This record gives sequence, C-alpha cells and structure tokens, in this order.
Amino acid sequence: MKNGLLFSFLVFCFSIICNACQVSFLKNWQLPVHFGEQFIIPNDNAMNENAVFLGKILFFDTRLSADNSISCASCHQPQKSFTDGKKTAIGIFNQVNERNSMSLINLLWSKSFFWDGRIDNLEQQSLHPLTNPKEMGMKLDELENKLQKIIEYPPLFKKAFGTKKITTLLISKALAQFERTLISSNSKYDKIIRGEIVPTEREKRAINLFFTHPIPEAGIRGGNCGDCHGSHLTTLQTFHNNGLDTTPKDIGVEKITKKKQDKGKMKAPSLRNIALTAPYMHDGRFQSLEEVLDHYNEHIQYSSTLDALIIEGSNAVNGKKLSLTKEEKEDIILFLNMLTDSSFIENKKFQNPFIEKK
Ligand code: HEC
Ligand code: HEC
Repeated sequence: MKNGLLFSFLVFCFSIICNACQVSFLKNWQLPVHFGEQFIIPNDNAMNENAVFLGKILFFDTRLSADNSISCASCHQPQKSFTDGKKTAIGIFNQVNERNSMSLINLLWSKSFFWDGRIDNLEQQSLHPLTNPKEMGMKLDELENKLQKIIEYPPLFKKAFGTKKITTLLISKALAQFERTLISSNSKYDKIIRGEIVPTEREKRAINLFFTHPIPEAGIRGGNCGDCHGSHLTTLQTFHNNGLDTTPKDIGVEKITKKKQDKGKMKAPSLRNIALTAPYMHDGRFQSLEEVLDHYNEHIQYSSTLDALIIEGSNAVNGKKLSLTKEEKEDIILFLNMLTDSSFIENKKFQNPFIEKK
C-alpha cells in the first residue's frame, strides 16, 4: 500500500507539472503521408489532448494490475519499441504466458490486433490484458472502483471525458488514444522515401531484395519478404503460416475460426523497429535476425497450410528453398536495420511518467 501511495503522489506531481506542457501530444500532430489514409479513429473516440495524456498515465501505472506489479508498459517498454525482450510475456506473480509481447507501433493503421487478429478494435483490445489472469488479472468492476478511489484519477477523467465517474469504457478509450499516438515514421528508410537522404547502392539493393518476389526464369532475384510484410508499413495485415512447424503447438487463427485451413496462421507483423524487438515470432523462438533469415532461407517446415507465397518463392528454377546467397541474407538484414527509428523510442512523450518524476 505504501507503494500505492507513493505512486499516487508521483502521478499527482506529474499531472501538475504537465498541465503546462500537455498541449504537446496533438499539437502539430501530422500523420506520415506515405502510410496512407486508411487510419482508424472511431467516431465515438475522437482524439483529445487530455484523453491521450490520461491514456499515457494509465498505460504506465502498475496499479492497473491485481498485485500492483504490472502495467501495460511492463510488457510494452518504449526503449524496446514497446516490447519486453522476453521470449514470452511475464504477467502478475511471474506467470509465464504463451506468446511474445508485440511491438506497439503505427496501431492507428491496424485493422486487427493480437498474433491471431482475434480483436478488431483497439478500444476492445486493452480489456484482454487487463482481465487476463496471467497478465494483469483484474476484474473490471474492481478496476473501476480502484481507480475511482485514487485521488488524482477522477479529475483526470473529468478533463478527458467530462465526467469523474470512471468506467471501463473510458479507461479503454483513453488507452486507445495514447496508443494511436505511437507513430514511428522517421527511420532511415522513411528518410529515403521522403527524399531526405540518398540510399547507397547496397541500400538500394537491400530495399529491392526485401520487396521483390523472385522469378528465377526471368533472372529476377528476391527475398520475397514484401509479399507479406509489404507497403511502407511493412505489413499487409494478412495472416499466414510461414513454415515454423510441421505441427504447430499454437494453432493461431484456427483457434478463432475453427477452420483447419487456418492452422498455424499468424499475423505478418510490421517489421518497423524490428532490430529492437528480439526475440522473434509469436513464441519468441529466434534470438536474432540472422536466425530469422536462416529460417526463411533454409528451414521452412512443410505442412498443408504452409503459405503458397513461400512455396512459390524460390530463387532457383523449380527450387524448393528460397536460395538466397549469404550476401543477400546480409543485405536483407541491412534493410531490416534501416527500419530502426531512434527518434521514436527516445520520444519524450512516450516515456514512463512515473520514472521521470523519481
Ligand atoms: C504480461 C504482458 C503484457 C501486458 C501486461 C500487456 N500486454 Fe499487450 N500484449 C502482450 C502479448 C503477449 C501480446 C500478444 C498476445 C496474443 O497474440 O494473444 C500483446 C498484444 C498487444 C496488442 C496487439 C498489437 C498488435 O499489433 O496486434 C496491443 C495493442 C497491446 N498488447 C496493448 C496492451 C495494453 C494497452 C496493455 C495494458 C492495458 C497491455 N497490452 C498489457 C503482452 C502484454
Ligand atoms: C507468407 C508470408 C510471409 C513471408 C513471405 C515472410 N514473412 Fe515474415 N512473418 C510472417 C508471419 C505470418 C510472421 C509471424 C509468424 C509467427 O510468429 O508465427 C512473420 C514474422 C516475421 C518476423 C518476426 C516478427 C516479430 O515481431 O517477431 C520477422 C523478423 C520476419 N517475419 C521477417 C521476414 C523476412 C526478412 C522475410 C523475407 C525473407 C519474411 N519475413 C517473409 C509472414 C511472412
């Protein structure tokens, strides 16, 4: 409880300080043109400065968990592009979850959430970790009562939504608003797209390899990655079996649709900031990008749902493997590193407000 009081005090201090600097979240809020117009802001949750600010405080507050030990940010840390560096997520009482914590970037453009895409809106999404007994372990009515009693929260809700009455709906709306501000669009690759820097020959080759589907008969070499990690967002938001296992332990989309043809399918996630988010895949099985490239090039596991784009993607005529050279694999890793946006992870707006005050 002592801890709780200390935290209350810290939030309180922070909210006073930031009343002056609060305008900064949405002022000059410009969406990157090259990500397109398909972003999603629901009509009933228009962005507002005070709600984004509240969402940020909630995101970093461990009191949103049953034992006051875990916040959203415990598993989604800004320095790691909002992942946690763990194989799979660790929740309250050190419970080990089955899946790897996902990077939270450019969610404003996301149509579905989680590795299996089982949720289609960001407002709904947060209720899952909040109530999952292995993540934050709260009952929603208890959460409402708990926050209602923390002195600084009712005024923050009042400023954000015009009411001091704290409800799950408003908690989820504020969290979603903060998450929609997590935009990463200032990597080397973005600067190249915007014409701010000229890529080297090797960088040009790397970009091309990443996005090209190989046609060996025509002498066109490609890494095939853009087939699923396409567009400037580096995700087409589609679901695939990318050949990790012959018999997947985690059946992915099949669990949601109950269809055998969806076995082992997962979201092809954005690869932005991927150099910061090891380990990789839904179960965190790969430690490095080298291991990921070895997987796609040499270790694809066949099964009835293995994606056609992978089966057909070979650089050898009638080839069964991707067959990239060692240099080509290194080029693709070079491209993946070009997707790192240090201004995103260092952005002051996204740092832990509780630590800042300590
Ligand atoms: C215990 C660690 C943990 C905590 C705490 C946690 N998450 Fe997550 N988060 C994960 C994992 C693991 C996944 C992937 C789960 C899955 O696919 O079933 C995920 C997925 C997500 C996604 C989906 C991203 C995408 O691109 O599909 C969002 C959004 C998200 N979390 C937001 C939050 C918010 C908001 C909170 C706090 C209310 C939170 N998370 C708390 C571990 C955590
Ligand atoms: C057929 C679609 C498809 C193709 C082609 C493909 N991927 Fe993927 N990729 C996926 C899917 C699906 C996942 C998530 C799989 C999982 O975790 O079960 C994934 C995951 C990844 C991850 C881990 C992401 C994370 O956050 O942990 C990396 C890195 C990656 N792919 C890189 C590449 C590269 C590099 C290429 C080209 C050599 C490539 N992918 C080609 C579909 C594809």
